Amino acid sequence: MQTLVQEAAKIISNSKRTLALTGAGVSVESGIPDFRSATGLWAKFDPAEYATIDAFRNNPEKVWNMLREMDALLKDAEPNKAHIGMAQLEEMGCLHTIITQNVDNLHQEGGSRKVIEYHGNSSTLSCIWCGKKYTAEEKRDEIPPKCQCEKLLKPDVVFFGEAIPVNALNESYQLAASAQALIVAGTSALVSPANSIPEIAKSKGAKIIEINKEETHLTDNVTDIFLQGGAGEIISALVAE
Ligand code: OAD
Repeated sequence: MQTLVQEAAKIISNSKRTLALTGAGVSVESGIPDFRSATGLWAKFDPAEYATIDAFRNNPEKVWNMLREMDALLKDAEPNKAHIGMAQLEEMGCLHTIITQNVDNLHQEGGSRKVIEYHGNSSTLSCIWCGKKYTAEEKRDEIPPKCQCEKLLKPDVVFFGEAIPVNALNESYQLAASAQALIVAGTSALVSPANSIPEIAKSKGAKIIEINKEETHLTDNVTDIFLQGGAGEIISALVAE
């Protein structure tokens, strides 16, 4: 493993533009379960019933049962060694931008400045009927949280069936096409279009460094260096190298 970490560190130090694509696995060590592991959120809640925009429109009260559980985990979560290590890589000039599928704000809290939130951020809520916006904090005691127009509010996260924020989509595409290295960390890379980012980067010549507890469909097809294990430990080792 040490040799692989050294090889990855060498790629990163030689790269003029390194990006990271992160997923839920990066926040597991902060106490937030991922989605598709045996103990993940989708083992408990069927995404077709709880995570589509149609499900929210049809039965927002039901969807808020899940959102409340998520909020309880997110509100006190602290950045872990993976978030902090990535912020250190940025500080060292070794990481240009993080594209994250996570909505927990932990990259920013860990010190990262350039973060593209591909699936939004759960710290604000919007009314999809009248457009008014609130902070999650100001509505935390209201269960489920309501807009002044009496409709239920929706967190500003991307549900299945909703578009990716257009700036996030375009900027990620452009960065991926010009990256020389991409760190893919803690994502199963099963959700589109975020999972096109490694393929785009690879097709333009970037080296792909994958950090994951388990192999993914990228590992044998796209990944150049697979660092298997917990993101906190591995990213700390990369920073040290
Ligand atoms: P997944 O749950 O699909 O994948 C998490 C990945 O992280 C898996 O490959 C795990 O093996 C790995 N993992 C778990 N713990 C880890 C650790 N400590 N260190 C390193 N790796 C670890 O989560 P995502 O790929 O982020 O979107 O899911 C993508 C999207 O699907 C989410 O943004 C969300 C979800 O549905 C929407 O809801 C639109």
